Amino acid sequence: MKLAVLISGGGSNLQSFIDQCNSGELTAEIAVVLSNKANAYGLERATQAGIATAVVSHQEYADREAFDQALVDTLAPHKVDLVILAGFMRILTPVFIGAYQGRLLNIHPSLLPKYPGLHTHKRAIEAGDSEGGATVHYVTEELDGGPPIVQVAVPILAGDDEGSLAARVLEQEHRIYPLAAQWIAERRLKLTPKGVSLDGELLGPSGQRYLS
Ligand code: GRF
Repeated sequence: MKLAVLISGGGSNLQSFIDQCNSGELTAEIAVVLSNKANAYGLERATQAGIATAVVSHQEYADREAFDQALVDTLAPHKVDLVILAGFMRILTPVFIGAYQGRLLNIHPSLLPKYPGLHTHKRAIEAGDSEGGATVHYVTEELDGGPPIVQVAVPILAGDDEGSLAARVLEQEHRIYPLAAQWIAERRLKLTPKGVSLDGELLGPSGQRYLS
């Protein structure tokens, strides 16, 4: 299975894919890492791992659709099976989403459907929630609204701030994101009109619960 990983920043999730591809836990190959920012540290991680990189700067395009078409054109020669959004901080349009329908995953740092959008950890702490977490989901045109695949929860502890909670969640993101991709590699996961199924069983509205 050939992957493209799209990033905008540090790329710690990208690193977990690189490590799991190297260890064989994830039976896939990262064909290309694409960033919309030339200075994203994740590009260095890719280069160190001998993976091809590409930069497509959103600032060079008149609108979201033109940017998305450039993403499609850049990925096309790599012929990837699955696109992994890993901290890619651009809202995608149907131009991109349509080209990779059913083959496009994102990880969102909240227990979806709670807290789509930004500042998820801050919002969970301010709401007095006892748990935070992350969700891997298929991408649809609804922002952070596509069908969930796998979700992990972590406790929110007294004295937590955005940073401490984010770090606790990120550690779990690094487990569940490659796991979801591996289920796809093993053809265990299906996106059906009724929702996502794993090994033939329809998953609930938050996806499979992963125990941290
Ligand atoms: C993660 O928190 C992820 O959930 C969100 O963006 C962040 C990316 O972190 N979508 P990294 O670049 O993978 O370290």
